[in-house]
Order: sequence, then structure tokens, then C-alpha cells
Amino acid sequence: MALKTFSTYAFLCLSIIWPSFCTKENPKLFQDENPKLFQAEIIFVHGIYVMHLSIGSPPVDIYGSVDTGSDLVWTQCEPCPQSQCFRQEAPLFDPKKSSTYNSISCFSFQCVIAGTNCSEGDCIYSSAYGRGLHGSFSSGNIATETLTFGSTSGQPLEMPKIIFGCGHNNSESPNTPSNRTGTIGLGPGSSSLISQMATSIAGKFSYCLPHQGSSTINFGGIVAGAGVVSTPLIIRDHYYLTLEAISVGNQRLEFVSGGKYFIGAGNIFVDTGVQRTLLPLEYHSNLTLVMTNMIRAQPIEIKIGEPGLSDILCYNISSQPELPEVTIHFKGADVKLSPSNIFQNISDDLMCSAFRGGDVNTIYGNIMQTNFLIGYDIEQRTVSFKSTHCANN
Ligand SMILES: *[C@@H]1O[C@H](CO)[C@@H](O)[C@H](O)[C@H]1NC(C)=O
Ligand SMILES: *[C@@H]1O[C@H](CO)[C@@H](O)[C@H](O)[C@H]1NC(C)=O
Ligand SMILES: *[C@@H]1O[C@H](CO)[C@@H](O)[C@H](O)[C@H]1NC(C)=O
Ligand SMILES: *[C@@H]1O[C@H](CO)[C@@H](O)[C@H](O)[C@H]1NC(C)=O
Ligand SMILES: *[C@@H]1O[C@H](CO)[C@@H](O)[C@H](O)[C@H]1NC(C)=O
Ligand SMILES: *[C@@H]1O[C@H](CO)[C@@H](O)[C@H](O)[C@H]1NC(C)=O
Repeated sequence: MALKTFSTYAFLCLSIIWPSFCTKENPKLFQDENPKLFQAEIIFVHGIYVMHLSIGSPPVDIYGSVDTGSDLVWTQCEPCPQSQCFRQEAPLFDPKKSSTYNSISCFSFQCVIAGTNCSEGDCIYSSAYGRGLHGSFSSGNIATETLTFGSTSGQPLEMPKIIFGCGHNNSESPNTPSNRTGTIGLGPGSSSLISQMATSIAGKFSYCLPHQGSSTINFGGIVAGAGVVSTPLIIRDHYYLTLEAISVGNQRLEFVSGGKYFIGAGNIFVDTGVQRTLLPLEYHSNLTLVMTNMIRAQPIEIKIGEPGLSDILCYNISSQPELPEVTIHFKGADVKLSPSNIFQNISDDLMCSAFRGGDVNTIYGNIMQTNFLIGYDIEQRTVSFKSTHCANN
């Protein structure tokens, strides 16, 4: 019962003036009512992270990519002719077999939050991710369902009436056999899982991305203890931080983004759905120059030939390149990286940089986030980093 109240309340908050109404006016409304925290398992699969949740009644497993860079939660749904869905190992979710599935009409506020269009009175969506060859796509019906999470107590915890997309026409970018069933949007937009759960998680969540294997995402609770650094969070269409500089060894490169780039507060956003950290082309080329001067080995530039993106700096592993220490200077928070945050082994003999140049967005990618416990506090507007060995044993 308490959970039902949560979600009705969350909808009110969303539909009025989220988030200030929910967080400022009624901070205590549900405190202490349920000390259990929602959790879910995160699994590393081929360069992306998938989150394990269950959907519907009876619950069916879903594995959605963990995506702070988008908002909508969606999963592939029956009916879906083979040509319109990508391969997934888990069975497709069938809304007809769930007693808690509710479709949403075009005129409901849930459709205003998540839908983009109307088809014969039903609310429908269409989402595109990435671009060009790496793009992926999903479209289908907007509906509500019960999601089932794990919890700190070990008991499953339900979150009813979550707005989600039931995808009937989906495609995945080629060469990423991730075995996922959809996407779990954790962004700041009102259709995201985080916004919909806002009141019951007090606007807080944290994840720890492992190098391989699995780990846990926590909803509610903060990142504390020795070695935690925090930086202001600026919420626009994404979760933005302020990058002031990057140090390579003893050389500090001030981040002065030029041209059309946003200079000052909120100049980079955190995206768990992207591997490499994307920096403006000229800044990236300055950084690469400093790196190649410091690393005593013969660099190999890998051309992937995507328009608007730089080559990627790589080394032959057998040349045993010695990597310099790299520190990301966010406002008020120096994040000291490990070698595995800076270079990634992409084959037996090749390791490639986790930085890339591109003049579209400035993004903090997932390679650089691995083995940090990263906590978001949407009420206090901070993001915290704590160096942590993330993989569950
Ligand atoms: C694919 O997903 C299934 C669950 O449906 C999981 O048991 C399996 O380990 C996954 N395979 C890979 C290669 O990740
Ligand atoms: C909505 O659907 C109509 C008719 O199918 C189409 O012309 C229009 O482009 C769609 N709009 C969006 C935002 O998808
Ligand atoms: C599925 O989506 C693709 C890409 O937008 C589109 O070309 C195709 O017509 C869609 N198929 C159906 C049956 O809606
Ligand atoms: C790149 O380095 C050059 C030479 O040191 C400097 O003039 C320029 O401002 C740098 N550009 C960026 C974007 O940091
Ligand atoms: C890496 O170096 C080894 C030994 O010199 C060589 O056999 C191999 O072809 C090189 N690999 C690449 C990708 O350059
Ligand atoms: C990359 O490969 C090298 C050589 O095999 C190994 O020493 C290193 O630990 C690997 N790095 C990661 C992050 O797996």
C-alpha cells in the first residue's frame, strides 16, 4: 500500500512543478516509512552496462542498458516480428500476460511526460540514440507497469505504475551483441526512472561500474566516507558537471572550450551509455600531443572514419607503454584516474585511449567511470566520486 501512495504522489509531483514541489515542500512525507533501499544488479556486457529488473505481474526479467544520457525506460515487447526486434536472450515481455500493464491514452498526463505522438488514441513514442552507424532506435506504446527491484534487505521491492515504453519496433547498433532487452533511462527528464522514483529515493542514486562482472546500483542513500570528492551538479537536459582542467603527469591543460561550446558551469555531461570521454577536437588534440610526448612508445592512430570524430590514440601492448598519471579536475573535485580508466585493451595486442575528440557534445564516458562509486544527489545538486573496487564477488 505504501508503495502505491509513493507513485501517486510521484505523479502529482511530476505533473505540477517537479522537482521543487516534491523536494522542498514535502521533504519528510515518506521518510522513515520504509528503511529498505531499492537496488539492482548491473552487469558489464561488451562495452555497455545492463541493469537487471523485473517487469509486470507475474514479474519477467528485463536487462536494460544503464543510461544516464537518456530518460525513457523501454523494453522489447510482444508482438514483435523478428525483423522488428533485435536478438535478446531473455523472453520478450508480453503485456497481455501481465495483470498490472495499463496502456496510456493520448490525453493523459503520463503521455505528456513520455509520449511524442498519438496513434488511434494510444500514446506512442519513438526514441533514437547515438547517430549514424552507431545509432539505435525504439518505438512502441507508452504504458505503465510495476517494476520489481532488489533491496538492501534482500527482499524484492515493487514500484508500481512506472511509465515505460513497450517497444514493438526496435533496432540496435551493429557489432554490439549486448544481450540487452531495452534501455533504463536514468537522466533528469520527467519520464526517467530517477524522476519517477524521486520521492521514494529522496532524489539520490549511486552506481559503481565494474571492469568486468557485475555490481550494484543503489537508489536512495549517499556516497560518504574517506576519499570522497564532490562537485556541483547542473541539471539541464542531462547531468552536467564543470570540467576545469585535465592533468597529464605534471602538465595541466586548462579546459577552455571555444566556439559554440558552453564555457563555464556545466560544460560536460555524464553518460553511462557511451564508452569514451568526448572532448572538443582542438582540446583533445592538445591532450593527445601531451600524452604521446610523455609515453615512450610508438603511437598508432586508429581511424574509424566517423564524420566529426577524431582518430583514437592506441599503442601496441607489446611495446609496454608506461602511462602517465591523469587527473580530471572538476570544480571542487580532483578525480585521479587509474591506467584502466585512460586506456582500454581492445584486443590481445592493442590498447586504445578512453578519450576522443568530437565537436558535437562534451561527455564523460563509462570507461572513465569504472571503479568509482558515483553518487548523484539531485536535491543537494552534487555528484560525488569515490575510488572503489566495484565488482561483486
Ligand atoms: C544474456 O542474458 C542472460 C539472461 O537472459 C544471461 O543469463 C546471460 O549470461 C547473458 N549472456 C551474456 C553473453 O551476457
Ligand atoms: C506523429 O505521427 C504523425 C503521423 O504518423 C507524423 O506525421 C509525425 O511526424 C509524428 N510526430 C512525431 C513527433 O513523431
Ligand atoms: C520500424 O521503424 C523503421 C525505422 O524508423 C521504419 O522504417 C519502419 O517502417 C518501421 N516499421 C513498422 C512496421 O512500423
Ligand atoms: C591548444 O594548444 C595551443 C598551443 O599551446 C593553445 O594556443 C590553444 O589555446 C589550445 N587549445 C585548447 C582548446 O586548449
Ligand atoms: C604489435 O607488436 C608485435 C610484436 O612487435 C607484432 O607482432 C604485432 O603485429 C603488433 N600489433 C599491432 C596491432 O601493431
Ligand atoms: C591490458 O593488457 C595488459 C597486457 O596483457 C595487462 O597487463 C593489463 O592488465 C590489461 N589491462 C586491463 C585494464 O585489462
